[in-house]
Amino acid sequence: MRHLMSPLDFSVDELDQLLDLAADIEKNPQKYAHACEGKKLATCFYEPSTRTRLSFEAAMLNLGGSVLGFSSADSSSAAKGESVSDTIRVISCYADICAMRHPKEGAPLVASMKSQIPVINAGDGGHQHPTQTLTDLLTIRSLKGRMNDLTIGLCGDLKFGRTVHSLINALIRYPGIRFLLISPEELRIPSYIREDVLHANHIPFAEAERLEDAMPDLDILYMTRVQKERFFNEEDYVRLKNYYILTKSKMELARKDMFVLHPLPRVNEISVEVDDDPRAAYFRQAQYGVYVRMALILTLLEINV
Ligand code: NCD
Repeated sequence: MRHLMSPLDFSVDELDQLLDLAADIEKNPQKYAHACEGKKLATCFYEPSTRTRLSFEAAMLNLGGSVLGFSSADSSSAAKGESVSDTIRVISCYADICAMRHPKEGAPLVASMKSQIPVINAGDGGHQHPTQTLTDLLTIRSLKGRMNDLTIGLCGDLKFGRTVHSLINALIRYPGIRFLLISPEELRIPSYIREDVLHANHIPFAEAERLEDAMPDLDILYMTRVQKERFFNEEDYVRLKNYYILTKSKMELARKDMFVLHPLPRVNEISVEVDDDPRAAYFRQAQYGVYVRMALILTLLEINV
């Protein structure tokens, strides 16, 4: 039995297969419409979510399966003090696969150790978000036609943004990837990523504060929200929340074949006027998230269509 805790749990070949499967699902959805009949997905979300939880549910429903679960810690027995280990043992009796989001780093990993069913990390604190990364990879591959030789700008809250941490880990395995890390001083990428991931693997990268300077060089601009819920004080959040706002005029500095991604939710960091630009790909990205989660469910349940 296999779980998904980090994007590195799949080899590059396995990832390619998974993305191929997702692309086939996009083209031939009918072929997969009954693949998970009789199977149940449990969504155990101890932290708020719109896209991740609903795209998991949509994915299972599209495969002909059913879903059950809870969407906040308050509405589960966690409010009574139950551990994730006990909860997953019980969920294992009710469902065939579980997607879990938790504010504590490592909680889905702890659950996977006691689980009788595959567990998917749907985001653990400021740590990892592997299914968003699968979504991002499918989006990049579909829009650019490749995953190698790309200059990727990551902009915003690089300190607390778990989607950024997972994406960097996954992308360094492809040749010719360069990163421009654009953030205010306080929200720079954590040193464990700078040293243990980027430096250790000799990945070219630069850190900068000004988005305007980076724009002309980028193949992909990955915007992120300042992660309010991970700040220790409100004042710092208020000071930093509008640090970057992508506007139409900044988009004029970018290449014609550059794409803007964002894991969403957006707060202020992309002006709504950018949404009509053909290079704004964040809503398409949310759609890719359904295909890739369908592919992931099939892969972990070892269902071949
Ligand atoms: C992200 C997350 O939860 O980390 N959202 C998502 O799953 N699409 C990004 C965020 O909350 O900023």
